[in-house]
Amino acid sequence: MDFQITLLPGDGIGPEVIEKSVQVLKTIENKSDNQFHFSYEQIGGCSIDANGSALTKEALAACQKSDAVLLGAVGGPKWDNPDSKIRPEQGLLALRKGLGVYANLRPVKVHPALISASPLKEEKLTGVDMLVVRELTGGLYFGEPKGRSIINGQEHAVDTLIYSEEEIRRIVKMSFEFARNRKKKVTSVDKANVLESSRLWRKIAIEVSRDFPDVALEHMLVDTASMRLVTSPFSFDVIVTENMFGDILTDEASVLTGSMGMLPSASLGNGKPGLYEPIHGSAPDIAGKGIANPVGMILSAALMLRYSLHMDREATMIEQAVDQSITDGCRTLDMGGSLSTSAMTEEILKRMQ
Ligand code: NAD
Ligand code: IPM
Ligand code: MN
Repeated sequence: MDFQITLLPGDGIGPEVIEKSVQVLKTIENKSDNQFHFSYEQIGGCSIDANGSALTKEALAACQKSDAVLLGAVGGPKWDNPDSKIRPEQGLLALRKGLGVYANLRPVKVHPALISASPLKEEKLTGVDMLVVRELTGGLYFGEPKGRSIINGQEHAVDTLIYSEEEIRRIVKMSFEFARNRKKKVTSVDKANVLESSRLWRKIAIEVSRDFPDVALEHMLVDTASMRLVTSPFSFDVIVTENMFGDILTDEASVLTGSMGMLPSASLGNGKPGLYEPIHGSAPDIAGKGIANPVGMILSAALMLRYSLHMDREATMIEQAVDQSITDGCRTLDMGGSLSTSAMTEEILKRMQ
């Protein structure tokens, strides 16, 4: 089959890591009967500089027409003025909304050989294997009203946390479906002791759970969840939560795996195409040095093969090559080693032969 893949390298280390995932995909293409057609579009700061907008209509339309979208990262200090009306991150939010990808899957698995790369004790990390299902197109990120105004001579700012029951139902349902094929436990994370939106979330989660009698549902407040993520991370199977809680908890969870550079993600909606991106940002502190960890990006490409291109065998081949390279001691700087982005990728490629 022929697949159209739109590549959005973005800013900072985005272009450095996306190039490596393309190398991996080209190796896969050579081993399969499928053809990948890659095309590049701009997003984020580079698009602001070139087009005056973080994502042009044309770039979004190209993404909507493709089978899958692979994204590096957006943002950086150059575009960080808090008074600026145009910001790189708007491009990413417009893309997620424009593709309708409401479910962001962030798998967190600790590789036994990387336990020493994490600040946590070994006994906390053994067996950690969870899937965070982050709601991606609702909540505080998109709620209206949003913006700034002057009230009684004082500048005010507002963001709105709003969810409809349908938005909650579809994401919770998806998380139960994933749990059914895993350890059969869903932890729904909310702040129901304070937020009305969380109380609706809890009510819908209970309703959905009735259709999944084989899966256990537990509710956990987000502050407790952030504590449990480091005291008993192995107790989680599937976590489902609203947009911003999921954003924050997954950066925390990445520490369990040894580095922010390790975690991939898949963003899915009801139709195609899916969006695939590592959870890390543009890492301005290391950009341009050729030392970024490519693993989160390469594993995102593997998720793309699995969820959008139905190439499960090839996805597993990439994941096994990454695992084996880590078992064999290959490490970038952030993992406690000294390999460059290119050298780490070469080690992964070697293990795909
Ligand atoms: P960040 O994730 O870019 O970096 C946090 C820390 O992790 C840095 O020390 C960085 O060097 C390190 N790190 C991240 N990815 C790494 C990798 N692959 N290999 C090695 N080390 C890695 O977060 P930040 O510094 O808070 O944000 C920088 C910019 O990125 C901001 O503009 C932010 O908005 C943006 N951002 C974008 C995305 C995205 O595009 N999906 C995600 C998060 C942040
Ligand atoms: C992420 C990032 C984004 C988010 C930003 C850059 C908009 O932190 O993908 O985790 O908050 O969703
Ligand atoms: Mn984030």
